[in-house]
Amino acid sequence: MTIRIGIVTVSDRASRGEYEDRGGPAIRDYLTQVVTSPFEPVSRVIPDERQVIEQTLRDLCGVDNCCLVITTGGTGPALRDVTPEATEAVCQKMMPGFGELMRKVSLEKVPTAILSRQTAGICGRSLIVNLPGQPRAIQECLDAVFPAIPYCIDLLEGPYLTTDETRIKAFRPKK
Ligand code: MTE
Repeated sequence: MTIRIGIVTVSDRASRGEYEDRGGPAIRDYLTQVVTSPFEPVSRVIPDERQVIEQTLRDLCGVDNCCLVITTGGTGPALRDVTPEATEAVCQKMMPGFGELMRKVSLEKVPTAILSRQTAGICGRSLIVNLPGQPRAIQECLDAVFPAIPYCIDLLEGPYLTTDETRIKAFRPKK
């Protein structure tokens, strides 16, 4: 079965075409460099509307069967930022360690890292991970959490993801 990975850019302006989406392509490039299993990226660019975000996440997880969905944007304190709320609404379990670690590594780069409410959770058999909208944040955050993602997907009985070990060494505890 084809491995699918969802990439969701949450941005009012990118979704209206007022500026080019840079976050989605940056996630796609990152995955192309790091994930060595053949996979199909499924990309969406949507506005900061809670209902639209929830529906998009549910469809990517439940209909497109993405084992992993990565969002970018809408994690801050601005009035329109609702990506973490939408993520929480569609998830059965939250995975707070992802947000904790990503904020920790991001704080070494920018003091405003504490403004991101980015989180992660399990929706059905899929892992959803939020990233901030800043394209620079994408590699910083994914480098920190990616070593644990393949094993998380194993635990969800998803596909066996392999990585380029010169970039990211997936950690799988020995049984
Ligand atoms: N994390 C990293 N690694 N690099 C960044 O530049 N920007 C911060 C923070 N986290 C940033 C970061 C800022 S300025 C904000 S407002 C929050 O992410 C939320 O961003 P978002 O609303 O675009 O998701």
